Amino acid sequence: MPEPYFLNVNGIEHEVTDPDVAESLLFVLRERLGLTGTKNACTEGECGSCAVLVDGVLTCSCLVLAATAADREITTVEGLGATAADSEITTIDGRDGLSAVQEAFVDAGAVQCGFCTPGLIVAVHDLLEANPEPSDGDVREALSGNLCRCTGYGRIIAAVHEAASRRRGGQ
Ligand code: FES
Repeated sequence: MPEPYFLNVNGIEHEVTDPDVAESLLFVLRERLGLTGTKNACTEGECGSCAVLVDGVLTCSCLVLAATAADREITTVEGLGATAADSEITTIDGRDGLSAVQEAFVDAGAVQCGFCTPGLIVAVHDLLEANPEPSDGDVREALSGNLCRCTGYGRIIAAVHEAASRRRGGQ
């Protein structure tokens, strides 16, 4: 029987007992830890719905064996709520707790069925941390690994620019 291991997810240590070494990080997050914000779709690293950050690197969690992520810092969409910087931004409609990126997605109508949204939110946070003022091309390239079947991407790209503006202090 493999030894239990620990996953650090959103700053919290979780013990994974009776582990199966073949389980993906995506599976463990959703089925063992109950963190269902990370979505399960293609399981081939093609759609981006399972995107998380592992030690700050954007990662398809379906392609990573969970045990190999032990003792690394994992951030899921559940860990990307409002930060201190975001709290400077006026929230509307009682949506406290949402990050600037999440708010911008709502305000821009960038969410339809919502299945792609958590992966996109993670990817956009990753983009804006590295590039606070991305061009349209930068946004399209950064999100090229995230498939959306509903929106046609126009409102998603608008949401990214709006989020970037809000994070830089605009409204
Ligand atoms: Fe439905 Fe993107 S909003 S897949």
